[in-house]
Amino acid sequence: METDIKLTKLASCAGCGAKVGAGTLVHMLEGFRTHYDPRLIVGYDKSDDASVYVINDETALVQTTDFFPPIVDDPFLYGQIAAANALSDVYAMGGEPKLALNIMCLSEHMDKAAVQEILRGGYEKAYEAGAIITGGHTIQGAEPIYGLAVSGFVHPQKVLTNSGAKPGDVLILTKPLGIGILTTGAKADMVAEPVLERINKQMAALNKTARNIMVRYPIHSCTDVTGFALMGHSYEMAQGSDCSIHIIADQVPYHPEAYELADMGFIPAGAYRNREYAEQGVKVQGNIDRAMQDIFYDPQTSGGLLIALPETYSEDCLRQLQEHIAQAAIVGYVTERMEYSLYIE
Ligand code: CO
Ligand code: CO
Ligand code: CO
Repeated sequence: METDIKLTKLASCAGCGAKVGAGTLVHMLEGFRTHYDPRLIVGYDKSDDASVYVINDETALVQTTDFFPPIVDDPFLYGQIAAANALSDVYAMGGEPKLALNIMCLSEHMDKAAVQEILRGGYEKAYEAGAIITGGHTIQGAEPIYGLAVSGFVHPQKVLTNSGAKPGDVLILTKPLGIGILTTGAKADMVAEPVLERINKQMAALNKTARNIMVRYPIHSCTDVTGFALMGHSYEMAQGSDCSIHIIADQVPYHPEAYELADMGFIPAGAYRNREYAEQGVKVQGNIDRAMQDIFYDPQTSGGLLIALPETYSEDCLRQLQEHIAQAAIVGYVTERMEYSLYIE
């Protein structure tokens, strides 16, 4: 057995870039029959971050799962990133994660030490989130996979869906874009070490602080920006909210090195799937070049929260966020439904 094999070499596509396209997913679920339960307030039909089930007047259960092939070679970091990404969907619903289960697929090329490090990374990240991993399930397969099934809690009146945005809202994004492009470039050794360190730190960072700050404000809608990219996730928010979303291109935070790579054509396959899915609903106004658009369609692994809140509170909320998350930014606004769901301007 080889012990020095690079984890990312065992994966055909990295991180949330491995996510099946939103278009494909919608197609596969067409006509799928589900059963009604009045306590299930967010379920299958909503394309939301997690399901929400009301237990009593005070408490609702939030459940979600996320897993993907290695996005980095360091197994401990991979475990941390996969866990931060899975926990994020609970934060995106306004909830707090409490319990989690490991989901793992071992490839025959992984040694015992690597497996232990992945699990330790996941465990420590979950613990940092205030959650505890209580068990899990592991299978053998061609490619390694790791992630979590997470349960958390939220007050039933304080659930943040991705379909509550209202005209007059302002949009805040809490992490810069370009992760998919940069991790694709990294596979070809095109990304410098300090840049890799910066994005690895970003991917491993929990959305806990962002969640804890945003819940002090009357938030209308929230989702996390992951595999479907800024465009795909805002498209879902616009559609679900029956509004139009306007992205102000030059306010969107991104890693400049991702722009250079996009300009050279280092675009992950997921970005094309995202473009295919959302493009018919998008109107590009003004002079926004192809590389910048590619960043907007770039699948993010463990991306930031996209928050819609009334304009009155947006500056204050942003200031609070920026005290802890320097790159949080106002990236757009919401209007009544117009001809297109999304406008890039
Ligand atoms: Co999500
Ligand atoms: Co998810
Ligand atoms: Co949400």
